[in-house]
Parts: sequence; structure tokens; C-alpha cells
Amino acid sequence: MYDLEKSGQRYKLANELRNRSMAYLFYEPSTRTRTSHVTAMRELGGLSDGFSGIEGTAVTKKETIRDTIMMVCANRFDVIVMRHPFDGSVQWAADVASIPVINGGDGKNEHPTQALLDVFTIYLLNNESLDGLNVGLGGDLSHGRTIRSLSLALSHFENVTIRWAAEDFLGMPEDLIPLLESRGVTVVRDGTVEDVMAKVQFYYMTRPQLERMKGISQEDIIKMMQKYRIDLEKVKDHDVKLMHPLPVNSEVAEIDYRVFFDKCQAFFQQAENGIILRKALLYEMLKHDGYTPFSGQLNPVLEQGNNCLKRIAKESNKEGKKFIDNIANGLVVDHLKPGSEQRIVADLNLINRETGIIPANLPNVGKSILKTDLFEFTERELKTIAEISPEPTINYIREGKVIDKFVYLLCRNSNCVTRVLNEDVPPQFYRENDGGVRCRYCRKSYSIITKKATEEEKRSFLQSLPNGIDKV
Ligand code: CP
Repeated sequence: MYDLEKSGQRYKLANELRNRSMAYLFYEPSTRTRTSHVTAMRELGGLSDGFSGIEGTAVTKKETIRDTIMMVCANRFDVIVMRHPFDGSVQWAADVASIPVINGGDGKNEHPTQALLDVFTIYLLNNESLDGLNVGLGGDLSHGRTIRSLSLALSHFENVTIRWAAEDFLGMPEDLIPLLESRGVTVVRDGTVEDVMAKVQFYYMTRPQLERMKGISQEDIIKMMQKYRIDLEKVKDHDVKLMHPLPVNSEVAEIDYRVFFDKCQAFFQQAENGIILRKALLYEMLKHDGYTPFSGQLNPVLEQGNNCLKRIAKESNKEGKKFIDNIANGLVVDHLKPGSEQRIVADLNLINRETGIIPANLPNVGKSILKTDLFEFTERELKTIAEISPEPTINYIREGKVIDKFVYLLCRNSNCVTRVLNEDVPPQFYRENDGGVRCRYCRKSYSIITKKATEEEKRSFLQSLPNGIDKV
């Protein structure tokens, strides 16, 4: 695609995606990612339609991601490109869809096509090599998704060093550094932008992601970023290429306007490479015959999580018996945070539901317990309980006996799509080598905290999980 463009043959493939169509679903603002996908589709002879911002869509009427995706598939689109504020939302869309889904940015998780175009730009500017790179990262490393995707992309190449300098609040996410190091990347924190600039071939600056910071004003950020801005003084003595995913915030001015005219500036070339890259991507994805007709049915797998850590339901012990022997049938929620039981009663509206309830705070055993004669909890109710008190144990009582018992695990990333109650995304984990779990959707990893499950129960749960992303 690059060669065709540079030799003036942009439209040589203009009929390749004839009768193919792309839906763009942008729940968040975008200039480059959306328009470059549309341009790519147009230059290959395909069509595009969709929304840019949720105003005017049924999302304002509380339609879920799942149902919106089903409608797009029913409309016979061949591919979707989607941007959404929740981490993992695009993986969920891909699980629902019967057509390919391109991630145009999900929360502060990933922006993979940006990383592909960034790597392609570095490749072109670095004599077609991606090994032995020294890359500087700057601006807001903490709240942006481009930094995560780019540094993970760079980790696929040999002998890569990433250097960065930023305020702690805007620094590299804690989980990212060990992940990069485990993949062989050297990560170095320097004191100043000048220190970084002196040692790298590429400096990748980013915008403060104010939309993802709570309780911080633009004025706070301007102060915080003052010594980390890129101005002519910082680039003038270095043979460095300055990259940026764009947009630059013209008020914060993380890159001074005069630098835009300097020879170091590579970000507009980056943006053009985005069209070329997305053209190649869409061509590869859609250059095939046939399609799967729409069935109108949801895959039942989309209703089930794999997050219930099953425990062995033993004969009631002395203490448990105290609380279950006076209900024949119902549910006992155990190992709750002390004092959390009243909030659960309120949030589940148990008082008004004509159900017998006994909430109990047991300070002498350091926990609370909640007994109800409900037959079962819905997934939304289980999530509500786990939001209030992580990793509760749920006991099913039938005829005075515990017949089933599990710890309900929830992803701990509060911006994960599985945490949004009305989206109804079942929590799904996969197993990590260190004995922890990783969320299928936002890809954050955790160790299980419950002390109540035995080592054998934990082992058996981990063995039941897939050890990588499986197709749903
Ligand atoms: N780089 C990037 O994602 O830009 P947009 O927000 O304009 O799509």
C-alpha cells in the first residue's frame, strides 16, 4: 500500500473491496482513527457508515454494546471499527459479532492500529529496521492507551530500550513495566526530558488524557507538565524524530507550536501512514469471498462467566450451622466485609422484596454474613454484592443443606466493561503462569485474595480456566 501510494497508484486496488462495507462505531471523539478507516475503505472501493458520538443513536436510550453490535451484524456490514470508553469493550464486541471487529481504542487499555502505524513509521524512518531501538516516551504515560499498545508492540523486537521521564501521576502504569521487562525490553526512568532526548532515536510524546482523570483540572496538568513539554530548546541539539499520536492539546501545548515546523517533526507523516496501514489491514481482513449469513441468535456462551471459584460444600460446621439451620431453602452470602451487609440489603432492595433476610455483622469473627430465602441471585445481583464486598462466598441451601458453594470473582479494574452492570458482560478470566488470573476483557491480571478457599479449590479453579484468549 505504501509503495502504491508513493508511486502515484493510489487507486490501483480501487475495486478490491467493492460491495464490502465497514461500520464505524465511535462512542468517543476521534478525528484520525475514524476518518482514516473511512478513507482506507473508500480507496479500496468499499463503503462506510456508522456513528461518531452517541448523540442520535439508541445508546442514549440505554442500548447495550451487545445489542448495538447485533444490529450492525443484522445490517450486513462486513467489518466493524469501534472506539469505546470502557476497557475491554471491544473484545466484548468481538465476542458478540459474527464479523471482524477492529479496536479503535478501548478506555485506557489499547489502541492497536495506532501502535501498528507507529511501528510502521519507525520502520520507515529507521532504515527498515525495528531491532536495537532506543525510544523515549513522554507526556501522559499513565492514562493513555497509545503508550501501552506501542510499548507492547515494540516488545516483539530485539534489544529495545524504552526511556521515559514524567511526573509520578503521569508515569508508566505499574503493571506495564514488569510486563515489558518479562518480554526482554529494558525500561529506564530518566530525570528529565533532556536526559531522554540525548539517548533516543525516537521521542513519542502524548497528550494529557484529561477525560480520564478525576478531580484534576487542566491548570493542574499545565503546571505538572511544565518541565516535560517539548520546545525547540529540548530538540535543537539532537538527531531525534518527534512522534505523537495526535491530537496535540493546543492549550496545554505539550509540544510547542514552533516545533511543528522543525525537521524533527514526524507526526503528520505518522498520520498519513495510518491511512496506508488501515488500507492494508482492511484489505487483508476482507479480501475473501463469501460471508456467514446473520442468524439472529445470541450465542449462549455470551451469558456465562467462568469466574465462580467452586468450593466443596461440606456438612455444616458449627459456626455455619448457626446461620443456616433456620432456613430450609435460600442463599447465604458469607465472608463479607464487616458492616457491608446493610448496603447490600439496600442496593439489592431486599427489604421490599417479600423475602426473608437476616443480615449479621459478626465482629468477633471479622466478617458479615447475609441470609435470604431467595432461590438464586441474578448475575447483576452477584456483581452488585462483589462491588460492595469483593470475593463473597455464595452458599445455596436446599432442605437445610449447603448443596453448592462458590466464591464470586470480579475483575478489579473499575473501568472494565465487566464492571458495568447494565452491559451484562459475564466476567471471564484466563489463567496466568504465576497462579493468578487475567481478565479476558481488560487484560489486567490479579491474584485471588480470598483466604477462605483451600489451595486445592484454588488449583482446581485455575485448571478450569483457559490459558489464553480463546474464541468465544
Ligand atoms: N491518534 C488518534 O487516535 O487520534 P483520534 O483520537 O483523532 O482518532
